[in-house]
Amino acid sequence: MSLETVYQHFYRVPRHSAELLSDRGGPFGFDIHAALAIDWLIERYRCDAIIETGCNRGDTTQFLAECYPHLPVLTCDILPEYTDYVRRRLGPFPNAVVEQCDSPLLLERIRGMFERPLFYLDAHWYEQWPLTRELAAIDRGVIVVDDFDIGHPRYGFDSYDGVACGPKILEPFADRFPFYYVNNPGAPWPLPCLQVDRLAGRAYLLAGLEPDYMRFNRWFARRQNPAG
Ligand SMILES: C[S@@+](CC[C@H](N)C(=O)[O-])C[C@H]1O[C@@H](n2cnc3c(N)ncnc32)[C@H](O)[C@@H]1O
Repeated sequence: MSLETVYQHFYRVPRHSAELLSDRGGPFGFDIHAALAIDWLIERYRCDAIIETGCNRGDTTQFLAECYPHLPVLTCDILPEYTDYVRRRLGPFPNAVVEQCDSPLLLERIRGMFERPLFYLDAHWYEQWPLTRELAAIDRGVIVVDDFDIGHPRYGFDSYDGVACGPKILEPFADRFPFYYVNNPGAPWPLPCLQVDRLAGRAYLLAGLEPDYMRFNRWFARRQNPAG
């Protein structure tokens, strides 16, 4: 996609999750820099599917299904009220598939189906935090972890049971992910970000894919896995 295509789709998606999310909803929490970075990854790695975990009311799912009509967009949520809502919302998009399940189960079910999938891991909120099970279930692809601690005061992250969604959670995966990337707040972005309230940190990981294209793009900042 071109920058113009991302821009046009991004600001046309209604923010149905506004009253439920601290960032007031919108695709990728209304952070167009995330949409640009993910678009670049989809193109660079020639991704053949997009998998989101945790769709809520489908603001990001709608953007993905609209922007990438040539790719399957699979999403899930653990709550039927959200999956029913998103199925209705995405009725006009035949490439969107919505499952009601615990997210790691979806990832296990589709393992091996795609060559170069992109995963947007955004399932969280409840006592059972699925992120480490999700990472264990993915054998191949580009992985984006939302709400990750990038160590910058302007960017939020989640914590569960006193454990931050940050570098520490990657330690058990040091063999597979000896390094990773985060969004680079100082990057020269081609568009302004109109999300002026809550911004989220994100981690970007490569599972079984080469080459390491992110190394040469200033939108991403490279980090060592603390246990690597
Ligand atoms: C932050 S919201 C997702 C926002 C959405 N990705 C977007 O960009 O609009 C997190 C969602 O994850 C869902 N969730 C929490 N735990 C889950 C699990 N184990 N499996 C699937 N979904 C889960 C919640 O019900 C909630 O709707």
